[in-house]
Amino acid sequence: IYTATTMIIIAYLLGSIPSAVWIGKKYYGIDIREHGSKNAGTTNMLRVLGRRAALPVFALDFLKGFVAVTIIELMQYDDLIGQNDLINLKIVAVFAAVLGHIFPIFAGFRGGKGVATLVGAVTGIYPPVALLCFGVWLVMLMVSHYVSLASMVAGCCFPVFTLISPKVNGSTAFVVFSFVIAILLIYTHRKNIERLKAGTESKTFIWKPRRV
Ligand code: G3P
Repeated sequence: IYTATTMIIIAYLLGSIPSAVWIGKKYYGIDIREHGSKNAGTTNMLRVLGRRAALPVFALDFLKGFVAVTIIELMQYDDLIGQNDLINLKIVAVFAAVLGHIFPIFAGFRGGKGVATLVGAVTGIYPPVALLCFGVWLVMLMVSHYVSLASMVAGCCFPVFTLISPKVNGSTAFVVFSFVIAILLIYTHRKNIERLKAGTESKTFIWKPRRV
């Protein structure tokens, strides 16, 4: 139980590393939370500071989630506890990492929306489900050019992919977790929803539209 608690605290601290805030401050002299959508995440870094700033932020935020679950796997916990407890511990660790990202202890509890950290964590647990969600996200982004909409739709597809995935289907806790995550993502994107309704959400183009 002590080791499990330690793992959860480590996951929260990992999630709390405010990569967007630190990179913005150290290399560009700005607090990203005062610019653009005011979100400390990859999309806003891309919007305000460009690709060179956004890429390391995505990589670090992704890794926070990935490492949080992978260290549990590497500890070979399954020798000590059953497979069911192992997946439950991973789920709690994902929550801790994502909550750390949204409410980082190292950045005044004002962080991002949890998408990249979540993708990293799910990749660490069930890569095919993460890949399917990424596919939906990419298609939605290419069609709408709204990252927030793409993230929410991919988030809502997460429980669906979880339900149809034979491996994941064995874990009721993971299914419940996927539904809670979908709701959490809608919650963290509540301001984006308002902007989308008002038609003021800014668009993101992965490839800049060519001028003719
Ligand atoms: O991952 C966050 C993204 O879905 C939206 O970011 O900056 O447009 O609010 P942003």
